[in-house]
Amino acid sequence: MPLNKYLLLTVVLAFLMTACQNDGSLPVRPGSPDTVPPLPTLHPNAVALGQQVYAQHCAACHGPELEGEPNWQEQNEDRSFRAPPHDASGHTWHHSDAVLIEATRLGGSRLPDNIGGTSNMPAFADSLSDEEILAVLTYIKSSWPDNIRQIQWEATVRDQAEVTE
Ligand code: HEC
Repeated sequence: MPLNKYLLLTVVLAFLMTACQNDGSLPVRPGSPDTVPPLPTLHPNAVALGQQVYAQHCAACHGPELEGEPNWQEQNEDRSFRAPPHDASGHTWHHSDAVLIEATRLGGSRLPDNIGGTSNMPAFADSLSDEEILAVLTYIKSSWPDNIRQIQWEATVRDQAEVTE
């Protein structure tokens, strides 16, 4: 075999061998489910404060029992979205803490224009303190069963790992 072909083959083989050294399992990154710290306990004081904040600032739209607006998956005639539930039947628990904090701080203004509707969710960055925002999210979490909390916790840990990487 001509030398340059032989060289090429060697390089390709060396590359393949390096690429295959990994036994096929995905690399373990910080924040992957293997390294997720245990589900934190929700502090009762935060839950109590959050319940008050919720009743005063969120319940009118998201429902007194966190149940969301009736037919919340449909849009209003003016193409505004309806407030989704915050209990386990909604999609709040699909999002990491960072996303939920941002949603509460910025409200509808965080959403891009091209999503086929508008959000009347107010921004709470000026009217609620960080402590109150964390508390209301803690209260919302206290309504979720542990398996749902675990999924949301893993999303939170993953999100933090991405931020620090
Ligand atoms: C005037 C009605 C209104 C009030 C008051 C309101 N929201 Fe909302 N909220 C909405 C609507 C409508 C949506 C759906 C559109 C969107 O995501 O902005 C929403 C979405 C959200 C989301 C995103 C949920 C997801 O799964 O994407 C979070 C988190 C949230 N609200 C938290 C709160 C909290 C916490 C409060 C009280 C501090 C609150 N909202 C008060 C109307 C409201």
